[in-house]
Amino acid sequence: MNELSCKVLIIGGGPGGYVCAIKAGQLGLDAILVEAERIGGTCLNVGCIPSKALIHAAETFHGQTDEAALAAMGIAAAAPRLDYAKTVAWKDGIVSRLTTGVGGLLKKAGVRSLRGRAALVDGKTAVVAADTGQSRIRCEHLVIATGSEPATLPALSFGGDVISSTEALALRAPPRTLAVIGAGYIGLELGMAFAKLGVEVTVVEALGRVLPLYDAELTAPVARRLGDLGVKLYLNARAEGFAQGELRLTRGDGAELKLKADKVLVAVGRRPRTQGLESLDLAMSGPFLRIDERCATSMRNVWAIGDVTGEPMLAHRASAQGEMVAEIICGKKRAFDHVAIPAVTFTDPEVVSVGLSPEAARAKGEIRVAMFPFRASGRALTLQRDDGFVRVVARADNHVVLGVQAVGAGVSELSAAFALALEMGARLEDVAATIHAHPTLSEAFNEAAHAGLGHALHI
Ligand code: NAI
Repeated sequence: MNELSCKVLIIGGGPGGYVCAIKAGQLGLDAILVEAERIGGTCLNVGCIPSKALIHAAETFHGQTDEAALAAMGIAAAAPRLDYAKTVAWKDGIVSRLTTGVGGLLKKAGVRSLRGRAALVDGKTAVVAADTGQSRIRCEHLVIATGSEPATLPALSFGGDVISSTEALALRAPPRTLAVIGAGYIGLELGMAFAKLGVEVTVVEALGRVLPLYDAELTAPVARRLGDLGVKLYLNARAEGFAQGELRLTRGDGAELKLKADKVLVAVGRRPRTQGLESLDLAMSGPFLRIDERCATSMRNVWAIGDVTGEPMLAHRASAQGEMVAEIICGKKRAFDHVAIPAVTFTDPEVVSVGLSPEAARAKGEIRVAMFPFRASGRALTLQRDDGFVRVVARADNHVVLGVQAVGAGVSELSAAFALALEMGARLEDVAATIHAHPTLSEAFNEAAHAGLGHALHI
């Protein structure tokens, strides 16, 4: 058994753990990072990055098949052909370039990386079964960043043709028919991408609408686009089982239904990975590790960051927590007191939500809600995408912006401007007084602020 010791031991090399490790190294802390599989975690290897690659490839392919849109611009293109093996190789190339990059950054920061599964003995000791043999690592501070894994449905356990997003991103060929269970982030992002690649996609959702985390106004353009893409949607329906290529559903009215599907993608949420942590007996918050505003767990000098600590399970939240924890361990006074964490869904069109929705804001007091539709945006028209809008929510009394939501092609890139406005405590007047470059989609933010003040210019 190798005996190692360090100041900070980080378990899990996803965007939470690896950022924490790099930051710790940069701050001069002696850090060891343990990762059971591949550096980069879910996000880089089987989540955010490969899914965005697939979505982009699917959009590019589908764009070549949209004869009406092409003809409007005077373009006639030959029918595109798809070499899916090459698509997958291209996607894998991006992943490996990024994970190699992260490996380099860790090395540059002086972090020791160990590949293997860690079992915790106590809050200061872990045993790691690595390729190079067993190691016992003693530390002063332990950071748990073990992430999450796809939630399972008892009636549809993973295996064979019932797959999670991980397998969906690694298929060697697109299936002919795909049933997606869950119209949340993952189900719709991947479901829409496969539909654009020519797969017959059916989406089954237990609740009454798609992306039920967001309000109906915000998700309506996505629901319309699903229809345009020919995706069949069963709302208020539950998947009951899958056998011999047939998916059994029960609809809200009790009716039973059978659907043919070559593959079934189950995307009904993710659950925290807490296996191997039992020995610490940490306080929990439901299935998640309980943390305070400094990411401290119930045990002194044991910290937890990322998906294992609960919603929102987003890479950028994990990274921000990881950076903060490294600074706290280094002696800085920090707390996780961000005004907002932007959430982006890379559906078609994309959806962004930062801060409070109109409904959540209304529950706290008088508000103003204003929006600017992309059909009035010159830039949106030049991109042939005039669906969607930017919507601002502000306090009625002092006009402080409480939330911004947007739906539209490419609006993910506006999320930074929205988050900055919220963090800076901007008022509608500040956004309206900021010159936004023309012609850009971002002008819709400026126009929505003007509309909130009662004097929109272009609507
Ligand atoms: P989700 O929570 O977004 O959606 C799951 C959906 O499944 C819900 O709409 C739910 O009503 C439905 N559902 C649950 N049980 C069902 C059943 N038996 N039959 C039919 N429908 C059922 O979960 P998802 O899409 O798996 O994503 C997990 C997490 O991953 C998200 O919470 C998100 O934080 C993260 N993620 C983030 C992305 C991004 O930032 N763009 C992209 C993908 C995932």
